[in-house]
Parts: sequence; structure tokens; C-alpha cells
Amino acid sequence: MENIKTAIVPVAGLSTRFLPLSKVVPKEFWPLVDKPVIQYIIEEIKNSGIEQIIFILSPKNKKIIDYIKPSLQLEKLLKERKKEDSLKELKELEKLFESISFSFVVQKKALGDGHAILQAANLIGDDPFACLFADDIVESKNPCISQLIKIFKTCQKPVLSLYRLPKEKISSYGVVSIEKIANRLFKIKEIIEKPKIEQAPSDLAIVGKYILTPEIFDYLRKIKPNEKGEIILANALNLMLKEGKIVYGYEFEGKWLECGNKIEWLKSHLYLSLNHPQYGPELKKFLKEIN
Ligand code: UTP
Repeated sequence: MENIKTAIVPVAGLSTRFLPLSKVVPKEFWPLVDKPVIQYIIEEIKNSGIEQIIFILSPKNKKIIDYIKPSLQLEKLLKERKKEDSLKELKELEKLFESISFSFVVQKKALGDGHAILQAANLIGDDPFACLFADDIVESKNPCISQLIKIFKTCQKPVLSLYRLPKEKISSYGVVSIEKIANRLFKIKEIIEKPKIEQAPSDLAIVGKYILTPEIFDYLRKIKPNEKGEIILANALNLMLKEGKIVYGYEFEGKWLECGNKIEWLKSHLYLSLNHPQYGPELKKFLKEIN
């Protein structure tokens, strides 16, 4: 039985929905409380037992490399100035990265999420892998990607993460047509991008966390780019389904904290800030004062 040892994290998108700040701070580095979104993703991967992360970078945005590498000079400075608390924060971050092996691949042009994943094909080889987009966080007891891995271990087929949404929100997402096979587990029939409410095949939307098998690379090579010239993962999965391949969907346990556009990011930031053990109580008091 195959296990999941590697995660691909594409961060080579243009973050256009976060302009103007994304000119200098790409969306994966926007904060949630006091940590960048990407750190939550790395923590989720590590807590799921995955040891290798492949980042797909754009030629201009290599910030993640700076974030990961030890800051020896800063450490020295903090020691000299006896800034114990800051030093502790820095050491904790370094500890998070210690047991993970990182690789980096450049996507020369932002030609879609599927095109980004394809850039890691040579590094992945014949093994199944996890893929996490850098703008979807899940608050849960058991990390979302770990829940998907558990499903993969029994079915050995691609597994998509699904989240139930209120009807009025569904037309902004990739929505699945499904056949239920067990509690929270579905066979996917088709993915419909941004359906009209009345045409939505279900109220389950796809969240950017996947377990994929290397077969996906053939389909990413095979599909035509969309009208914007992009190679999209959902289209490759749809072609797989059309050719009779099996893809599962799992309605994970937890709360989806979306960070892909400004308003959803604001909500996620506020939710986590208000529930933060250190900052939450004072923030709640402050909200009462200003209301
Ligand atoms: P998104 O479509 O949400 O990201 O891609 P984006 O294109 O950066 O966002 P907007 O619409 O312009 O605001 C989902 C994930 O795929 C990556 C993104 O960085 C994000 O993690 N991606 C997307 C790439 O790595 N390359 C691409 O060409 C497109």
C-alpha cells in the first residue's frame, strides 16, 4: 500500500484579487492573526506526517525561501540585545522547518494551477502525493490533509476535499456532482465550475487540498488550456472522470477558512483573531467598545 510522503504547494499565482498589496506581499504571506497563511499550510503538512514539500515558485516571488532559511544574523543580534522572547519565536519557527525537506521548482509563467503542479512531475516520479493550495486553511482537530490521506490509504485513488456551503454561496466555487458511498465519502461524477444556483449539482464545493496520483500529470499534459490560456487542475480531473477513472471526494471534518479573496481573508483573520487565546479576549472587548 502506498503512503503519501510528498506535498506540492503551488505559490506561483498572481494573487490579483489581493492587489495593490500583493504587488509586494503575495497572498500566501498575508497574516492570519500573527503568522502568514503559508505557515498554517506547512504546519498542516508536517502534522500529517509528510516529510517533503515541493514549492512551485514564480520567477519573481521567492520569499518563501527567505522565510524558511535560518536567520543566523538576526539570531545573533537578538542574542546580543537579550531579546529572549523574540529569539524564542524565531527558534520555534526554525524548529517547525527542521524535519521537513524542501524543494523548489520555478513556474516560468503563471499559466494556471494545473500547469504549476505539472512543473513538479519529474520530482514526484511514480508516487502519489498531496497538493495544497496556498489560500485554503482548515481549522480541525485532525489536519484536513491527514483525513484525506486516511481515505487514500484504503482506496488508492485521488481524493478531493469537499465542504458543504449554503446554497447562495455555491455559484462562486467548483461544485461536484456526486454519488454517496459512505458517511462523508463520495464518488465524484463531475466538477462544475461556478454553476448557477439552480444548476448546482450539489452543495459541496472543492477546497484546495487534494491527494493525487501521478496519472494526473498525463491528463494535465493532455487537456487544452482554457479561454485564458491556463491549464486548470479541475479540467484535468474532469477528463479523468470522463475516461472512467475513479476519483473520490471526502467531506472533511473541520471549518474551512478561505483566504483566496479579500473579504473571505478578512473573515478568516477576524475569526482566528477573536478565538486566539492571547489576543481574543481583548479584541472582543474592543469590538464591544466600538459598536
Ligand atoms: P488561484 O487561482 O487561487 O491563485 O490558485 P491566483 O491565480 O494567484 O489568484 P488570483 O485569482 O490572481 O487572485 C490556487 C493556487 O495555485 C497557485 C496559486 O499561487 C495558489 O496557491 N497558482 C495558480 C500557481 O502556482 N500558478 C498559477 O499559474 C496559478
